[in-house]
Amino acid sequence: MTYSPLPPLTDSPEWDALREQAEHLRPRHMRDLFAEDPDRYPRYTLEAAGLLLDYSKNRITDSSLAALMALARSRRLEERIGALFKGERVNTTENRPALHAALRTPESEAVTVEGQDVVPEVHHTLRRMETFVGQIHSGQWRGMNGHPFTDVVSIGIGGSFLGPQMVSEALRPYWHDQLRCHFVANIDGSDISDTLRHLDPETTLFLVQSKSFRTQETLANARAAREWFVENGGSQEQVSRHFVAVTSQQDEAERFGIARDNVFPMWDWVGGRYSLWSAIGLPIALAVGMDNFRSLLAGAHAMDEHFRTAPLERNIPVIMGLLGLWYSHFFDAHSHAVLPYDHFLKSLPAHLQQLDMESNGKQVRINGTPVDYPTGPVIWGGAGANGQHAYHQLLHQGTRLVPVDFIMPLHSHNPLGDHHRLLFANCLSQSQALMRGKIDEEAFEEMRAEGMPEEKARELAPHKAIPGNKPSNTLLLDRVDPKGLGALIALYEHKVFVQGALWDIDSFDQWGVELGKQLGKTIEKRLEADGGQGEPREDSSTTGLIQLFRERGQG
Ligand code: F6P
Repeated sequence: MTYSPLPPLTDSPEWDALREQAEHLRPRHMRDLFAEDPDRYPRYTLEAAGLLLDYSKNRITDSSLAALMALARSRRLEERIGALFKGERVNTTENRPALHAALRTPESEAVTVEGQDVVPEVHHTLRRMETFVGQIHSGQWRGMNGHPFTDVVSIGIGGSFLGPQMVSEALRPYWHDQLRCHFVANIDGSDISDTLRHLDPETTLFLVQSKSFRTQETLANARAAREWFVENGGSQEQVSRHFVAVTSQQDEAERFGIARDNVFPMWDWVGGRYSLWSAIGLPIALAVGMDNFRSLLAGAHAMDEHFRTAPLERNIPVIMGLLGLWYSHFFDAHSHAVLPYDHFLKSLPAHLQQLDMESNGKQVRINGTPVDYPTGPVIWGGAGANGQHAYHQLLHQGTRLVPVDFIMPLHSHNPLGDHHRLLFANCLSQSQALMRGKIDEEAFEEMRAEGMPEEKARELAPHKAIPGNKPSNTLLLDRVDPKGLGALIALYEHKVFVQGALWDIDSFDQWGVELGKQLGKTIEKRLEADGGQGEPREDSSTTGLIQLFRERGQG
């Protein structure tokens, strides 16, 4: 990328203007902002790619939004968005483009990387996936002894697991009748053992998913799967019928014993956490069929188009990215909660955790100098309404400000009785409660109306009071279908990109995870029965724990 350094973030007229805006807004309550402006909802609502964002329950006004937009322009955000889509090397430390958007680009369009259009090979791979999925579904490709497959076990970790697992789960109502999908990620032997315990090797297909084909957890689980297969009646020749790989390292997959024809490609220009749109999405395609997988891509593409072309002021990922920065810098927010009010979206927070925290958990700018401001927040969350009976207490009365994204479909796949109306009411009541709160006096009056003696009511009122003024976004989609889900995930990918661009960090590398892997190799050796020979090289804590494992643990 022709990267020209950005000026310091916090030393600029745009930053000073934002600081002033924040000072002005800090003492103001959102209750009053709503009371003063009956059009707040329509004014702070946007629709694109089948999603609706209501961002009216945020601590913002037109002038603070204008100041945020001015900051975005001073960070040359539009130029950075253009560079992303043009396939420039936005991943500067690895000197690569980040072209996940190309994976969902229609065949009629081109995305050129160093003079070469990558769209044809993307669609060639999609067609290969289509053929493969068709063969498995129709029973044309069968397991040993001629039985059709009933179970698929996807083995992978990080981006080669979280995205496919979350999407497959989210699209549960679209699953093929005869095929069940399972995911194994953890190096903990219980993960794979527990999965295989219930499966029949004759009818089980394994997908080994690893961009690098070097990841310890994935290789160990893939070897365990192969051993289980062979020990339970499979032969080495039959491995080629039961094992398929997705990787950018075809030779490594072949060395493992997977036939070249069974290897689907990955490309350098796709980051792991952005890879569910590639052949890494094969478990999704097997679970829900290729038409639905293509709809997922279409939904993401619609969001790409919105992000690429909408003016910053009407751009959903840009607005969500700027709001995150606003709270993290000016309201001391350290974390961000994602609360999907949909049972099938319960793993979305885990996927977004990797997407956001692996992308923006960075401490230096693109030019290598340390940042002097906070970068990516801690992302957490879980399915509503379950959280209401757990961590929502902290959201309402805790001392930390946690901005929230509520995600809610208008239609349920299981419209049981009045469940969906109740769920919707729960979602809205949470965002309303966070926004408006309940002052002491209201709490007091309520208790008095219930007949509580005045003294007791006075005593309890501060405990029952809820400050409110807690910000949230509400994202609505028609239903959790492939298209809407594709748009939703792409929205978050772009939000993360926006924030990385504002902070001037490389959102596409992940060097921080390497040290643990490096040290792990040495420690693993030292845990072996004779690994403690010679002088201990570690700190006393690590040595002590190694020793303890060797004496009392199971090596
Ligand atoms: O260790 C982090 C990471 O590199 C992720 O970024 C990636 O998604 C995951 O490991 C799995 O990597 P691979 O697909 O190469 O096995």
